[in-house]
Amino acid sequence: MKQPALIVEPEAQVQTAADRMHAKGSGSIVVVDDRDHVVGILTERDLLRLAAFGSDASKERVADWMTADPTTATPDTPATEGLKRLNEGKFRHLPVCEADGSLAGVVSMRDLMAIAKVEAVRHPGELDAPKGLAGVTVAETEVGGVRGREGFFHYRQYAATDLARQRTFDDVWHLLLVGELPASTREREAFLDRVRPLRALSPKTATLLHEIAAAGSSPLDGLRTGVSLVAADEGFQPSMDVTADDLLEQALRITAVVPTIIAALYRAHQGEDPVAPHPDLPYAANYLYMLRGEVPAPHNARAIEQYLISTVDHGFNASTFTARVITSTGADLGAAITGAIGALSGPLHGGAPSRALDLLDEIGSVERADEVVRRKIETGERIMGFGHRVYKTRDPRSVLLREVAERVGGDEAALAIAVEDVVVDLLAELKPGRELYANVEYYAGIVMESAGLPTDLFTATFAASRTVGWCAHVMEQAADNRIIRPSARYVGTPPPQDVPTIDE
Ligand SMILES: CC(C)(COP(=O)(O)OP(=O)(O)OC[C@H]1O[C@@H](n2cnc3c(N)ncnc32)[C@H](O)[C@@H]1OP(=O)(O)O)[C@@H](O)C(=O)NCCC(=O)NCCS
Repeated sequence: MKQPALIVEPEAQVQTAADRMHAKGSGSIVVVDDRDHVVGILTERDLLRLAAFGSDASKERVADWMTADPTTATPDTPATEGLKRLNEGKFRHLPVCEADGSLAGVVSMRDLMAIAKVEAVRHPGELDAPKGLAGVTVAETEVGGVRGREGFFHYRQYAATDLARQRTFDDVWHLLLVGELPASTREREAFLDRVRPLRALSPKTATLLHEIAAAGSSPLDGLRTGVSLVAADEGFQPSMDVTADDLLEQALRITAVVPTIIAALYRAHQGEDPVAPHPDLPYAANYLYMLRGEVPAPHNARAIEQYLISTVDHGFNASTFTARVITSTGADLGAAITGAIGALSGPLHGGAPSRALDLLDEIGSVERADEVVRRKIETGERIMGFGHRVYKTRDPRSVLLREVAERVGGDEAALAIAVEDVVVDLLAELKPGRELYANVEYYAGIVMESAGLPTDLFTATFAASRTVGWCAHVMEQAADNRIIRPSARYVGTPPPQDVPTIDE
């Protein structure tokens, strides 16, 4: 047990507590009242949480960030019992109190493990990150960023929504992979000439994709296998063994061929032959062309293009992080994109834009919106297409896609626009203070459906645009790599236990 324990008053600033912890190299500080009785404990984890919220430690009170009334021990508590309490509560420090409640000292997991002759080895500077790594910055990037409180996100130095309003998908593709926007139509054409031949499938891949579709896989699962096939067929080498130029070439190949793979899988599912890429159409129009076999109306191509631009990149989301982790091992670009598609397929990430359409179908007319949505919220259901982990104001993607939906028009778009305001008002009334607004998924389904995309292609279409963002991150990771290898703290039964003999 450490004596005297490091202490601080509940009314002190968090900064004072942090300074004392730092000076003594301690991972915690016990919070005591004026009778020297334990009222709380403040740990490194709380300091990390405070930093993640962007709060100023010199303006925050210890009482607001500590764990109040922590589990304690007495000087007589056996070490094994102390370890048990720490394990059960998932803490690392236990204040030790005398019978009268006054503080006697503090004992740590490390102290107790030492008694058990199994000292946990902690590296200097090792930190505990919050669950889900929420609020933890794990890398530096020049690809883009998200500022949730401001309702703003950007690709490189440009607001993503400005790009969606003013540029083509192919320009944004150039921005992400080459590093800058094409400065002239000549540069734009040169880029299109470069990527045009990269869209086609090899005969071998085309045949195998047909088999994959026949096996009944979903478009996203088929895409995952298709990307892996292309990389294997073309002999992509580990990212650590290829030059930056080679990696860019592979990135262009994968980003160019993904829409062709999705369209081929979709048509095979429908029992139709694939349609070869159209030599004169840019990315978005060509995607719709390969799905339907006819040149799309310009307003539909533009609507889908704006959706695609708005979903190219979005911070260190789970699939982007996955692509970077895989690349950090030196694995090839195909492996990174295949893994990223796997991460995107989870319902908590790739979501299902069609769920917001289902909600609108259920509501049917704006007159019914209040009744249907109120009942759902009151019975604890989530309203699909509303709320976001990062945005606590209007999601800029939904603002943009609402504009697109307004332009596209139609009954469903009109209903969605009218219902949005009803839902936002109801959420403010029934979930006050939660700051819940429409997210990207609310209008995504409307825009994609009105541009002629079937609902079962929604997530695969999202994957197509996001492949551009993933590839930009793969290239950035490979250019300045260190293997991403965090640690986990073992919290099971303290080892080493005697290995039991097996019953005869
Ligand atoms: C996106 C989402 C998962 C973010 O979750 P989160 O940041 O972890 O937020 P939480 O789950 O902690 O929710 C905070 C509170 O808001 C409420 N809330 C959040 N989203 C809600 C929604 N769509 N409808 C009703 N209530 C919602 C929660 O019930 C919770 O209320 P409580 O404090 O009474 O428990 C969540 O908003 C959600 O489930 N939305 C619906 C699904 C969706 O649209 N997904 C696509 C996202 S792009």
